[in-house]
Amino acid sequence: MKMTLTPAGVLKQEHETVGLVLDAAAREIRCLGALGPLRTDRIEQILRFLREFVECCHHCKEEKFLFPMIRACSPREGGDLVEALLEDHAQSCRLSKVARRSFEAAARSDVGAVVLGAGLDACARFLRTHMAREDAVLWPLVDRSLSPRDQTSLLVAFDKVEAQEMGLGAHDRLQQLARDLARE
Ligand SMILES: [Fe+2]
Ligand SMILES: [Fe+2]
Repeated sequence: MKMTLTPAGVLKQEHETVGLVLDAAAREIRCLGALGPLRTDRIEQILRFLREFVECCHHCKEEKFLFPMIRACSPREGGDLVEALLEDHAQSCRLSKVARRSFEAAARSDVGAVVLGAGLDACARFLRTHMAREDAVLWPLVDRSLSPRDQTSLLVAFDKVEAQEMGLGAHDRLQQLARDLARE
């Protein structure tokens, strides 16, 4: 368990990891827009990261454990915020699905490559806005609303998501993938 971090700290750190991959995505988006070489390996890795790390890990921690607790501790302010953030997650999921669907077509034609670039760009922009919103509004609410006991139980739940939903070692492997993508 990441005992030195608070739950908000864990999720904020994950946003930073996602940011590395969105920076890598921006490089591929520019390349696709300019009809440069299609680096299928990197794009496949970015799309896989968006599904496995963002959706199966990060959004799962927020939706299954953090959001219900925020709703319970702060029914009015927290309740409204959680509703809005859940809509964001659904939209982010739709956008990443669109980008994944256009991946195969990108190898077949220039139009396909441009469509993939646009889809990836829409997804990345949306995620950045969503994460900025959580950084600005959600983490301060988490820090001031949840008791130390709630925070500890959240950290335990987050560990369970990593071990059970993602599989042992998958979280670390995806973090390493983000660092590798950031290096180029
Ligand atoms: Fe979120
Ligand atoms: Fe988040």
